[in-house]
Amino acid sequence: MDPLLDFTDKVAVITGAASGFGKLLARELGVRGARVVIGDINAAELDKVAADLEAQGISAAARCCDVSSEEDCRALVDTAVQLYGRLDLAINNAGIAHGFVPIHELTGELLDQQINVNVKGVMYGMKYQIAAMKNNGGGAIVNTSSMAGLGAAPKIGAYAAAKHAVIGLTRTAAVEYGRKNIRVNAVCPYYTLTPMLEGNNGLASDESAAQTLAMMAAGSPMKRVGQPEEIVAVMMMLLSPANTYMNGQAIAVDGGVSAF
Ligand SMILES: NC(=O)c1ccc[n+]([C@@H]2O[C@H](COP(=O)([O-])OP(=O)(O)OC[C@H]3O[C@@H](n4cnc5c(N)ncnc54)[C@H](O)[C@@H]3O)[C@@H](O)[C@H]2O)c1
Repeated sequence: MDPLLDFTDKVAVITGAASGFGKLLARELGVRGARVVIGDINAAELDKVAADLEAQGISAAARCCDVSSEEDCRALVDTAVQLYGRLDLAINNAGIAHGFVPIHELTGELLDQQINVNVKGVMYGMKYQIAAMKNNGGGAIVNTSSMAGLGAAPKIGAYAAAKHAVIGLTRTAAVEYGRKNIRVNAVCPYYTLTPMLEGNNGLASDESAAQTLAMMAAGSPMKRVGQPEEIVAVMMMLLSPANTYMNGQAIAVDGGVSAF
């Protein structure tokens, strides 16, 4: 296998793996040899994903978890170490969006939800993942932020605050653990066609999904939103065993939006 994408025997933990990027990433890592421990709050869908992976000959273990719970994040890492003896890769990807609300209508409740899942999920995740990686000489972590973590995100202010925090945690962890050979980077997608964007989870819930998508596509130099495969390709690059010196970066995958 091409060493750039040879994940043979690597052990990976992926959160938010019942859907969207996490689900696809589990398969892409698995078909290239990784053993994957997948976590999600949606137990029913998660079990289906694990069964599909196993049917493709991928070694996969599912563990229902709520990433806002420190105990659940610890248990997910423990599962990987108990089953496979180590942890090499971690992708803190579980996240929630919210409907369009201008800043003057934001509530503390909305911000709390965002912080609990999108920020604490990454912090608790890295806390236990790093502890495990230190025991096996290093590893690579990818945190899913957003273009909303790099700049203004009109009407999704609480989400923007949380995704900026993900980048702060990413950069800090990269500096703290670089000497332990643990690389920590963030991926920052623009609007991408996953169930989150299709309206089930929030981003598009206040206006028709079609209208929102058309607006977001028009705002991109490539005149379209992203496909999940295009984001997962960059996650794979960030995790690649050949990518040994990239650390503390927040990579925009946005069709050029941030180039304006
Ligand atoms: N799709 C986009 O346009 C887009 C753009 C930028 C960033 N993102 C980020 O990408 C990540 C993945 O999103 P996606 O687009 O694949 O969406 P998705 O809705 O398809 O997948 C998100 C998954 O996270 C899970 N989840 C939600 N809350 C959880 C919790 N508390 N504990 C455990 N799991 C939980 C959901 O059940 C779901 O399976 C998120 O962090 C999201 O904020 C998405």
